[in-house]
Amino acid sequence: MSDILSSLGLEKVNPGAFGRDVIRESSGGVLVSRSPIDGAELGSVRCADAAAYERVVQEAREIFTEWRKVPAPERGNLVRKIGNAIRDSKASLGRLVSTEVGKIASEGEGEIQEAIDIADFAVGLSRQLYGKTMHSERRNHRMYEQWHPLGVVGVITAFNFPAAVWAWNSMIAAVCGDVVVWKPSELAPLTAVALNSICRSVARDIGFEGIFSLVVGDGPELGKRMASDRRIPCISATGSCAMGRDVAKTVGDRLGRCILELGGNNAVIIMDDADMELVMPGVLFGAVGTGGQRCTTIRRAFVHEKIYDEFVQKMTSAYRQIRIGNPLEKGVLLGPLVSQRAVDAYSAAITRIPKERGEILYGGKVVSGMPSPLYVEPTIVRAHKEMPLINEETFAPILYVVPFKDVDEAIALNNGVPQGLSSAIFTRDLKTAEKFLSASGSDCGIANVNIGTSGAEIGGAFGGEKDTGGGRESGSDSWKQYMRRQTTTINFGDDAPLAQGVVFSTAR
Ligand code: UN1
Repeated sequence: MSDILSSLGLEKVNPGAFGRDVIRESSGGVLVSRSPIDGAELGSVRCADAAAYERVVQEAREIFTEWRKVPAPERGNLVRKIGNAIRDSKASLGRLVSTEVGKIASEGEGEIQEAIDIADFAVGLSRQLYGKTMHSERRNHRMYEQWHPLGVVGVITAFNFPAAVWAWNSMIAAVCGDVVVWKPSELAPLTAVALNSICRSVARDIGFEGIFSLVVGDGPELGKRMASDRRIPCISATGSCAMGRDVAKTVGDRLGRCILELGGNNAVIIMDDADMELVMPGVLFGAVGTGGQRCTTIRRAFVHEKIYDEFVQKMTSAYRQIRIGNPLEKGVLLGPLVSQRAVDAYSAAITRIPKERGEILYGGKVVSGMPSPLYVEPTIVRAHKEMPLINEETFAPILYVVPFKDVDEAIALNNGVPQGLSSAIFTRDLKTAEKFLSASGSDCGIANVNIGTSGAEIGGAFGGEKDTGGGRESGSDSWKQYMRRQTTTINFGDDAPLAQGVVFSTAR
């Protein structure tokens, strides 16, 4: 671990060292980061107390008044350098992510790649923050809209994507002329320190290091403080539905703007004409990747009754080949869950399965004899549509396999949960695929054909409906939420006509 940290210039990982770039003085407690791989202590971070938080937000507001004046393409130039700096440290950062949250090496690096990708996207965007022009109904008038920087953006991230989701928000926010105050998950503070330090050191060269700041907290207090802070016009939060509800209420109360990316209970529909060569890798990665701890993880597989047995048999033999172990070792596909709480949630769900007349076909146990108690078996469950459990999101690798008779029933089941993040169908039939994608098809923010529900690219808008919170981050036109729109009408004539033909004049 020390080699990773020293390659990132963070060799003295302790509260004192963090003072350099994170919180200078704070009486807040010290948060210790431990690796779920073996419980080893990785480092510690000083939490922000109320006074430290004040200083950070004050500094962010001050720097915003200058940053917003910098032309957007120049802002893009900074983000390009940040993207390159992250690129240069990709291997170390990927290892840090894997060590801190337990995802396999390839996924740790993939997450850093996702951060690099969104930085590249943001650089291009910095020259494309387009507004529309409109034809005025009035003679000699011109109308157009322009997009201005919004202000301080509060970014609250979860443990499972400790780098990528922050990057979706902060790289876009930076080219939009905003400044970022980041509250990372208490389970991944070191990844946050590493990334924030990179951003600050690159931004320091142009005198704008304060664009990126970090406030670390242990528990919900800090997030609440941010949500209620009127100086932060936009809060982008990723996490549980319960957390999102609290944030939405608090931010809504002050009429602020929220971007919420909350839970998912994602399903795949596997039709009887599906290409099994596509189904198997798609479902395996979607259900077991990141230990089932992605918002986009496949939790429910609706399988046509004609191929149910074949699917279950093929899936079980694929699960048998999954190596569980140290996620940094080659060949391992499943590392530890992130915390004891996550293991407890897994065990609680497993206990309910027989009570709800489901049957565990594979897995279902915590793995003993590992370097930490956080390793669990990936689990396949013969499930049925009346099981209440399948409508709940358990952040663990449990796959409920439910039979169905026709596509309408499968779509109804797909939509029959409170969340609406991601969904997918496997079929060779164009009509079936289009039905799934139509207005009366999947109700999710993401709907895929012949690929799984997870592993979205940055170019699209990411997020979902219903209890998922309705927010969209990352690509497409998500940037608009990080700016304020201004509609402008200019009169270049000699008369003062009113819109809608209204006459309001003292002249007779
Ligand atoms: C998340 O789990 O919060 O689509 C984000 C995916 C990743 C991002 C997941 N690109 O699975």
